[in-house]
Amino acid sequence: MCGIVGYVGRSEAAPILLDGLRRLEYRGYDSAGVAIVNGTCIETRKCAGRIADLARLMTRHPPVGHYGISHTRWATHGKVTDENAHPHFDASGRIALVHNGVIENYSALREQLEREGGHTFNSDTDTEVLAHLIGSIYQQLNGADSKARLVNATRAALKQVIGTYGIALVHSEIKDFIVGARRGSPLVLGVGRDENFLASDVSAIVAHTRDAVYLNDFDIVAVSRDSFDISSLAGEAGNYQISKVEFGAEDVSKGDFPHYMLKEIFEQPNSVRDAMRGRLDYDECTAKLGGLNMAPADLRDVNRIILTGCGTALHAALVGEYLIEQLANVPVEVEYASEFRHRNTPMSGDTLVFAISQSGETADTLGALRESRRKGFRTLGICNNVASTIARESDGGVYMHAGPEIGVAATKSFTSQVTILALIGLLLGRIRHLSTSQGSRVIEALEALPEQIEQVLKLSDHVRAIAKKYASADGMLFFGRQFNFPVALEGALKLKEITYLFAEGHPSAELKHGIIALVRPDLPSVFIAPDDAVFSKNLNNIEQVKARKGPIIALTSGNGSAHLKNIASDVIEIPCVSDVVAPVLTAIPLQLLAYHLAVELGRDVDKPRNLAKSVTVE
Ligand code: M6R
Repeated sequence: MCGIVGYVGRSEAAPILLDGLRRLEYRGYDSAGVAIVNGTCIETRKCAGRIADLARLMTRHPPVGHYGISHTRWATHGKVTDENAHPHFDASGRIALVHNGVIENYSALREQLEREGGHTFNSDTDTEVLAHLIGSIYQQLNGADSKARLVNATRAALKQVIGTYGIALVHSEIKDFIVGARRGSPLVLGVGRDENFLASDVSAIVAHTRDAVYLNDFDIVAVSRDSFDISSLAGEAGNYQISKVEFGAEDVSKGDFPHYMLKEIFEQPNSVRDAMRGRLDYDECTAKLGGLNMAPADLRDVNRIILTGCGTALHAALVGEYLIEQLANVPVEVEYASEFRHRNTPMSGDTLVFAISQSGETADTLGALRESRRKGFRTLGICNNVASTIARESDGGVYMHAGPEIGVAATKSFTSQVTILALIGLLLGRIRHLSTSQGSRVIEALEALPEQIEQVLKLSDHVRAIAKKYASADGMLFFGRQFNFPVALEGALKLKEITYLFAEGHPSAELKHGIIALVRPDLPSVFIAPDDAVFSKNLNNIEQVKARKGPIIALTSGNGSAHLKNIASDVIEIPCVSDVVAPVLTAIPLQLLAYHLAVELGRDVDKPRNLAKSVTVE
């Protein structure tokens, strides 16, 4: 979604803003722009296209100044054009504003301004309406202190807004000063020495400072070079704390890898290890998850669990359903976050809800979390981004500690989420019927994972060869059973989003209920068929595809290879692993398959078209 970077300090603002925008590229965008105050004039450069296009524009006509704001736009209102790119100006041309979010009542506000007169709009955006509204109120306010006037005008305008916003604005005649505000869209203040920053995401500013204030909804921040002041929309002094960002600029670089996605795939031995670190209790053969903030008696009382999320997080939740039901015998339901928040899911007092989100900012998941809490249910988060809104608004939870995930395609977050759901299943199981020896077997299976992931990653070249072989296919089907059915969905999602090919994931047995009609000699079927309790059932389905001349890529383990080598066109052999943690291993060859195929097809792997890393609109 849109990204914001603001800077006020002693350095030239342009390179800092541009570097920040580059670091936000992964969020997904279609246009970009900067506004830098030079004396009493605002220099704006903006265009549709990539940051590289903006950089070229800025090289031809370098904007000069020590404070300014910048933006990457992901279109919601108005087409992708230079005019609709941010920043936008008020009627006086003195206030420039960038915005992430949606002003739902922008038409009514625009009509109100048009009735007032003197407002000509140059774009189709909701953002420009907000800039005009702030400017209009600023003109009407009295007072010698122009900084306070701008903050008050922003506050008064935002009180009229229905919708979501993270904003940053500058006034050409108010020196070294930026105003920021948030509601529903993230905004972080970076605190430097003699310089301060605003950004939608710390990764944009972590090269300059690791001291950050994560703003709360309804906060307004007035930022100068050497100070800042946070107040609420109601005008009260804001509560805040300065946190240390856990990662540095090197963690948000590609290192020696050609793409973030590949780097993140190869980080999985460590990210899975970090998801378990300090959470395995060898004496009691259980998991230690203090962040849940629940005593064993509370956990025993839980008689139903709802797991909610979107995209890859939802697929991890589906694995979690199998895991928790198998290990703890507690009924689990998985809900699309976007559906859950709008429907009357029957829930009783002992229902526990988990909102799963890598970014912790996904609007649909946040909406589900808020709805669940509003109804009075204990709602926990499984997030990667420590200071995210979902992490802060939940009643407790488990952090993934996977490190920044920059590639739009979620990879390491999936395996960390599944690992954490296994820990939750183990903990709930041990409080119920799971014996110490069963608990200890789960711990052994979990502990073996990082080493086994290393072995799977060695298959990358083999998977690349398979990807090349099928590069002319116009789609793929993915099948799996039980724990690996959600992996089939995840494999299909990976393929769709970064190759733009048609892909579907199904339970293997569904094949004969309709999907088999799609089978043809040029459409490969990927079967996730490890040597487990349902292998022979999978084998039947594989034979059904083979009989119809469909090419088969089989992902298997143990004795499965011997059965499949004469049936499947291609076999990917992974280590033998316990059923409950199998998805952590089986997902990885599918991530590699999608990655290598996308590279083969010349796709923009880390920034696939139309997609955003953190989906902060509904
Ligand atoms: O940050 P979240 O985990 O809440 O994101 C949820 C989805 O938007 C995300 O998993 C999306 O589906 C990925 N691009 C999939 O690779």
